[in-house]
Amino acid sequence: MKNKIEQIRDEFFKQLALAKNSETLRELELKYLSRKGELSEVMHGLKDLSMELKKEVGELANTVKGEMQTKFDEMSKNLENYGKKSEFIDVSLPGEKFANGHLNPMTLAQNELEDLFTSLGFMIGDGPELESDYYNFTALNIPPYHPARDMQDTFYIDSKNKEGQRDLLMRTQTSPVQIRMMQKYGAPLKVVIPGRCFRCEATDARHEHTFYQLEGIMVGKDINFANLKSILELVGKKLFGPSTELRMRPKFYPFVEPGNNGEYTCFLCKGKGCRVCKHTGWLEIVGAGLIHPDVLRAGGLDPEVYSGFAFGFGLNRLAMLKYNITDVRLFNSGDIKFLEQF
Ligand code: DAH
Repeated sequence: MKNKIEQIRDEFFKQLALAKNSETLRELELKYLSRKGELSEVMHGLKDLSMELKKEVGELANTVKGEMQTKFDEMSKNLENYGKKSEFIDVSLPGEKFANGHLNPMTLAQNELEDLFTSLGFMIGDGPELESDYYNFTALNIPPYHPARDMQDTFYIDSKNKEGQRDLLMRTQTSPVQIRMMQKYGAPLKVVIPGRCFRCEATDARHEHTFYQLEGIMVGKDINFANLKSILELVGKKLFGPSTELRMRPKFYPFVEPGNNGEYTCFLCKGKGCRVCKHTGWLEIVGAGLIHPDVLRAGGLDPEVYSGFAFGFGLNRLAMLKYNITDVRLFNSGDIKFLEQF
């Protein structure tokens, strides 16, 4: 019988704690505390007990009833204070947790570069992802049938221009926006253009059909190779630390002359040679050069008056190096477990 009384009390407290409105309270009162309630029913059984037990159990029943009544009154009062119909809010309960979003590591790399370039007075430009053949290739000194097109196969849109040629494609690089910016703003001009690019690639850990670049140009009078070098040096130090060095080696890109590859001392081995830099001590990070006169002309600028430099960073590669990411496909995977780490 004692057990039964305690059981009733525990059950009552449990349900009381869950009660959210006065209707539920009334039901609980009826079920447990009224004359026909569970506790009274047990107490009816007292008469069959011996004197001694009657006293003991009776005492327990009374204490328990007192406890239950006190708790009940307290709860009713709380509910009243919150208004007769309103819900009872237990402010001491832990709140609901909202999952915070995370920035994609590529966005982090992009933000970092944007901060640096805006602090140097560069604008941030934007251009279309669905681009014309002219801007993506021809205006950049890559005419139809130029072998450089083979390196950048992409996705063509199934529509034809007046001459019957397929003219629209997903841009393979952010370089076409160089032309758009020169046409729109003229010179002098300092602008960086981050953006998404596409290539028809067989994907693997190092190749992805959708990736990101950050393009930059500076055009004006007397802009020269030394200006390009000093800017790229700054970027290297910002990205990989103050002891980072830059080396520039010749490389052909049709839209620059001379063209080159910018390489930074490997931040991991500090130039000694390791797995990340394939034991060369250097990391290939950026394509760059002095803007080809034909490209300036396509942008509406006179190469006899103006000169400029251009560069293009692969943001995926940058983020992969910086955050030690081993598979480029993770960036677009939408995998929460991957994103949560940044
Ligand atoms: N657009 C080139 C690529 O996708 C990268 C590049 C190289 C951009 C040299 C430049 C440049 O502006 O000068 O491979």
